[in-house]
Amino acid sequence: MIKQESVQKVIDTAQIEEVVDEFVHLKKAGVNYKGNCPFHNEKTPSFVVSPAKGIFKCFGCGRGGNSVQFMMEHEKLSFIEAIRWLAAKYNIELEETERTEEELAKRDERETLFIVNEFAKSFFSGSLFETEEGRSIGVSYFKERGYNESTIKKFGLGYAVKDRTALYQALKDGQYNLETAAKLGLIKEERDFFNARVMFSIHNLSGKVIGFGGRTLSSDKKIPKYINSTESEIYNKRKTLYGLYHAKNEIRKRDECILVEGYTDVITLNQGGIENVVAASGTSLTEDQVRLIKRYSPNIKVLFDGDSAGIKAALRGMDMILAQDMNVKLVLLPEGEDPDSFLKKQGTDAFRSFIEENAKDFILFKTELLMEETANDPIQKSIAVKSIIESISKIPDTLRRSLYIKQYATLLELDESILHRESNELIRSEQKKQRFNTYKEERYEEPPFPSEQGGQSQYKPIKERDYNSDEHQEKALIRVLVNFADKPLNSETETTVLDFIIENVSDILDKFDNEYYAKMVRLSREEKEKGGIVNEQFFINHMDTSIAKLAVDLSSTQYSYANWSGKGLELQTQKPPDENHELDCEQVVMRLRERKLRKLVKETRNYISEMDRSDGKQFLLYLKAFNKLEQEHKELLRELGTVVI
Ligand code: CTP
Ligand code: MN
Repeated sequence: MIKQESVQKVIDTAQIEEVVDEFVHLKKAGVNYKGNCPFHNEKTPSFVVSPAKGIFKCFGCGRGGNSVQFMMEHEKLSFIEAIRWLAAKYNIELEETERTEEELAKRDERETLFIVNEFAKSFFSGSLFETEEGRSIGVSYFKERGYNESTIKKFGLGYAVKDRTALYQALKDGQYNLETAAKLGLIKEERDFFNARVMFSIHNLSGKVIGFGGRTLSSDKKIPKYINSTESEIYNKRKTLYGLYHAKNEIRKRDECILVEGYTDVITLNQGGIENVVAASGTSLTEDQVRLIKRYSPNIKVLFDGDSAGIKAALRGMDMILAQDMNVKLVLLPEGEDPDSFLKKQGTDAFRSFIEENAKDFILFKTELLMEETANDPIQKSIAVKSIIESISKIPDTLRRSLYIKQYATLLELDESILHRESNELIRSEQKKQRFNTYKEERYEEPPFPSEQGGQSQYKPIKERDYNSDEHQEKALIRVLVNFADKPLNSETETTVLDFIIENVSDILDKFDNEYYAKMVRLSREEKEKGGIVNEQFFINHMDTSIAKLAVDLSSTQYSYANWSGKGLELQTQKPPDENHELDCEQVVMRLRERKLRKLVKETRNYISEMDRSDGKQFLLYLKAFNKLEQEHKELLRELGTVVI
């Protein structure tokens, strides 16, 4: 592991404009730089780099962050990979913590798994091209499918011979670790797992072989058509997408991922020049797989066979894609065709235009399918409508969701308000569930602090307003904290905004609804106690990427748009926060405090009313505390100018 000091040094040294400049053509614009955003298509630049703040921000697509986040996002690197890249650029030597004996052994074991798989892949490839059996059966099968030699090489295709000890012997002769081979599911009790099958290698994101799929050529119905390697330390089916290694660049370029059923579809489409294709072979699509796709594009097109009996079951999986804030379109292929056969018949161009013309928004697809079935039966119709609303309510983005509701109210001939009510109902119950889960996570799991993975985002933005939660007030506080921590509270004092916040919220931190916001206050307090400087840069360059990200989001508000773009957009109804932060800060802190006290007063009152009064001393103590609390609350209300009832 890299030492934390080294990581922080890299973050502090990296100059955002120099880093971005390696990938984006930047032009000076006042104190900032501007360019065309590399994350979305645009003709007029709305991508701004601020050397002073050390961040980039796109006002078109909303992406923003510091140097590390730029590298992570732009190059699809992990946190630690981004740190290594930046360290190399700035010639910073990264100090590693000593690896323990155990860690070393673990790494060696993983390495061995890859080595054995790599050997198996070459062995299957050798058997395909260099044995009589391979040539007459395997090669001719692939030829028949229309695969040329470079496709066969590219996808690591091969052949497992009929002899059930061929691979076993070869591994033994080569003195490979047989235990490892067994762990990978290649051999079992001195016999090969795959035999008399054409073989498909399965790669991870860096192109290493993590497993295999094998297809029988026998027409015997008792033999399963496809079998797969067992899962191992390096192969997790639910987190693997077949073809992603070969597709990822093209998915990013075309800003779209095509999802098909299996190996042969992926390979045929690739050979036909359609390379942004992946398959979730062997399992139904999982959340992890969708998240993998989302790293490259939010747009997904699912291709269904014309006779797929499982369409309805598959539709359920689509809700999950919507919930990840992805755009899902479906394409139903003509009767009897799968992507593989259809492309071969039509050719690439016709195939492309077919899927362009026939791609249908998933919810529309589902609506038509369900409505067709219900005819005019009102009960059936209400069930169908519920299911459609369920899908719509999965869309996290409020605006997008309302647009859907508007459109579907017309389509379903229903009142818009009814759809809204139903959907809000569903969202609320989902949120309740989630809040409980978040609470559980936060309570029992320490957030992963800078580690090999980097701080993964623990911060969950609030999507929907819950009137009972104080998260919005808490967020307002954090906005003030990030932007003005080191500024004096007002012109007459040396007390800083941070001092003021610490003084007024320390005792209510435990009552924060968003544990993450509370954590940011605690971190600031600790840093200050250590004698460190807490300012905007402290947050933006924080090693926990989720803190840094949140800080960037909060620091580059629409207010700075005017300053940044130089267009002088007059979109403020109030003064920019740098001018009125005195007022802002006190208001924000005190309003939050008032809300917390109000709840505390209520809680304490309830507690006291149900208290066992036999211990008079104890009871009096509580009563006194309660009176004090209530007193403070009333005063606060008065100060805030709210009438006390
Ligand atoms: N598939 C699978 N397991 C099965 C059947 C299919 O994993 N039992 C996957 C495979 O990845 C395959 C894809 O689904 O590439 C398409 O299925 P299918 O058309 O049945 O397989 P093909 O090998 O194309 O067979 P055929 O030549 O009969 O079309
Ligand atoms: Mn097929």
